[in-house]
Amino acid sequence: MNFQSTKEQEFVRKMVRDFAKTEVEPIAADIDKEHRFPSENVAKMGALGLLGVPFPKEYGGAGSTAGLIYTIPNFHNPTGACLDGQRRRRLISLAGRYDVPILEDDYVGDIRYEGRAQPTLKSLDPDGRVIYVGTFSKMLIPGLRVGFVVADGPVYDHLLRSKRCHDLATCNLIQRALKDYVSVGRYAAHLQRSCTLYRRRRDAMLAALERHMPKGCSWLRPKGGLFVWLCLPEGIKASELLPKACEKGVVFAPGGNFHLDPAEGEGCMRLNFASNSEAIIEEGIRRLGRAMRGE
Ligand SMILES: Cc1ncc(COP(=O)(O)O)c(C=O)c1O
Repeated sequence: MNFQSTKEQEFVRKMVRDFAKTEVEPIAADIDKEHRFPSENVAKMGALGLLGVPFPKEYGGAGSTAGLIYTIPNFHNPTGACLDGQRRRRLISLAGRYDVPILEDDYVGDIRYEGRAQPTLKSLDPDGRVIYVGTFSKMLIPGLRVGFVVADGPVYDHLLRSKRCHDLATCNLIQRALKDYVSVGRYAAHLQRSCTLYRRRRDAMLAALERHMPKGCSWLRPKGGLFVWLCLPEGIKASELLPKACEKGVVFAPGGNFHLDPAEGEGCMRLNFASNSEAIIEEGIRRLGRAMRGE
């Protein structure tokens, strides 16, 4: 079996690295009170977690100006963290102060298991600075690759033009089928069912982790989404653990996949709880624990 990154992953990584070198200075961000991360980790998170903002001099930054803030405020991929309301407002006010647009990627925001839904950044934005994007890929059919965008004025026009240049149009048949599915209420019912099912699976994973993980492991309790982010005990590297776990029939996403420099994610992994039954989750986590202990 080959555990190398796919060509696509390498491509994205290279793109982000190049982009980061030339245009974005990733900076520290505590995600919220419950999900506090070492700021270096957040700053260096890969393509899906990059937060580039002008880092004001008074906070020790170079005072440079960023072109875009990219953020996943709901159930971040890969950490599962959710930005609280206060920090959302703060982000909007910072974006206003430095006049930087925000790309809000709400890829799984409707899959919430507890706590109140937070306002979208878009709904808090008085100036049309937020570009909101959503997708049906995660919440309805994986790989569907149909999404939507909410943007204002010239930004919207520009996106429309560049979409036309990019791939002309997304499949009409799929879009029409989706429109019908959503407008008769089936999508809302599907989301409700998914939330009930995935909440049970999340709880099964959290309980199994308590039972089977060795000392020194820690993890976040996601309030929604699809993933648990797990930090390994000192001395265990996710990339070295992966082949051993695979031998036991368990696979996970090593933390390196989500970092500009894969070596920096060695201490972590992303576990998906949404795609397996509770019994399989229990057995998978038991085997993962055995692989960690070298049994
Ligand atoms: C954080 C995040 N945003 C957006 C997407 C995009 O989904 P799609 O291109 O399938 O619409 C994904 C898919 O994996 C994702 O993980």
